[in-house]
Amino acid sequence: MLSGHDIRKTYGAFVALGGVSISVEGGEILGVAGPNGAGKTTLFDVLTGRVKPDSGSVLLDGEDVTRQSAFKRARRGLARTFQAPLVPPSLTVGETLEVGRTAFSPRVAAEEEARLRDLIGFTAPDEKYAGALDTLDRRKLLLCCVLLHGPKVLLLDEPCSGLMADEISEIEDVIRRLVSETGMAVCVVEHRLEILEALAKRVLVLDAGEEIALGAPDEVFNDPKVRAAYFEAPAGAGA
Ligand SMILES: Nc1ncnc2c1ncn2[C@@H]1O[C@H](COP(=O)(O)OP(=O)(O)OP(=O)(O)O)[C@@H](O)[C@H]1O
Ligand SMILES: [Mg+2]
Repeated sequence: MLSGHDIRKTYGAFVALGGVSISVEGGEILGVAGPNGAGKTTLFDVLTGRVKPDSGSVLLDGEDVTRQSAFKRARRGLARTFQAPLVPPSLTVGETLEVGRTAFSPRVAAEEEARLRDLIGFTAPDEKYAGALDTLDRRKLLLCCVLLHGPKVLLLDEPCSGLMADEISEIEDVIRRLVSETGMAVCVVEHRLEILEALAKRVLVLDAGEEIALGAPDEVFNDPKVRAAYFEAPAGAGA
């Protein structure tokens, strides 16, 4: 459904991605792991069109979208959330969702919004300011916004970051429910093994802009290269 091929992205002499490939199928949850600075978010930025790669290509539902804008890719069914759950502080929940419903035509019916809110378990009142929501509800609000137009592929950048254990289980359930109900392809960036084991059958591990492992969660986390990247990373880096 979505694939990136031999993607390279440099910033001056610094290589953020040194030729990384990735693919995720409909109905699949793919994990993307790796220590801080590995290139996970940059990979999402290139896949979604936010950042232009130096070389490599991106295919969405069989079509080469490498030169398409982020907006066009979104219209074609590619959605993503960001690591930091930044909501518009001066808009209410209802207004934020209205922006999501009317982001592109045809505008999404209020009933679809209500169905999604139910699916996600997002119960914050319409009148509440988005900026007054806690982290879990901010993440749910933003997730609801990107789901409104029925994406085929959903990229989630650290969707469990900043959440408590019971909230993490809730988000895991939401992600699994979304995939089983819609058959969409989901890619989740996450450091923590237990979350990836609960969600993904396959995990891609990056380190310093390179793929160092790809396989089942327990296999890749027992891989000596992965253990070295995680546990021998410089101070302040790693999971
Ligand atoms: N616009 C930029 N200019 C220069 N360097 C950048 C830029 N964006 C990212 N980088 C660098 O590229 C590397 C990869 O960053 P990226 O955000 O993709 O890592 P990550 O794996 O998502 O890390 P984290 O787990 O901390 O979110 C980092 O060293 C980062 O500093
Ligand atoms: Mg990141």
